Amino acid sequence: MTGLDNVFMTRTEAYWDSIYSTNAPNQLSWFRPHLETSLSFIETAAPNRESRVIDIGGGESTLVDDLLARGYAKISTLDISSIALEATKQRLGVVADGVEWMAGDITTIDLPSTIYDVWHDRAVFHFLTEPTQRTAYVEKVRKSVKPGGHVIIGTFGTEGPTKCSGLSVQRYSAESLHEEFGRRFRLIDSIHEMHETPFGTTQQFLYCFCVVE
Ligand SMILES: C[S@@+](CC[C@H](N)C(=O)[O-])C[C@H]1O[C@@H](n2cnc3c(N)ncnc32)[C@H](O)[C@@H]1O
Repeated sequence: MTGLDNVFMTRTEAYWDSIYSTNAPNQLSWFRPHLETSLSFIETAAPNRESRVIDIGGGESTLVDDLLARGYAKISTLDISSIALEATKQRLGVVADGVEWMAGDITTIDLPSTIYDVWHDRAVFHFLTEPTQRTAYVEKVRKSVKPGGHVIIGTFGTEGPTKCSGLSVQRYSAESLHEEFGRRFRLIDSIHEMHETPFGTTQQFLYCFCVVE
């Protein structure tokens, strides 16, 4: 990590910490009581409950609660905001001990090699507006997802918002998102979802579901 990377990381971390310290979970535009689309893709990718699943930028979402309730035993939740991770742990109570919690920036954190069966990311990749950040992200996926493992990425679609939480985002079609990842990732499915925010507005999301070859 260079000194400049460090400054960006610290700024980003402080930014997200401030978002989570000043808003209740259901006051955030991306809030959904349950991430049904993500759950459905994860269960398709990994019917075996011993599969290792990592949620990138899990924040305060209930995905981890729902995966635990479905019997998944090897879950890792990563987020740049330790405040969000702490709130999620508190919500879960003792069952939080069965989850691996990782605080860090996905573009710079060191992840183990060929370990994950499923990589899930809802609404993180689209914040990577610099090509170097996206290259670093894809490198992490390549390194840490097993061959035959699955990758689920949810971003804003081409009709989605241009900003989220005051930050610029990159919008994607299935083709342009798949292109970021390259040919080692075979696209199995992609869908659009109109997400209803807690404020009654809608946002177009795109989900891509790939297998790593
Ligand atoms: C829009 S929220 C989505 C939260 C959750 N995935 C959901 O769908 O409810 C984006 C999340 O990504 C985290 N995040 C942003 N940039 C990140 C980065 N570079 N590395 C890891 N987490 C990041 C934020 O802290 C936040 O929790």
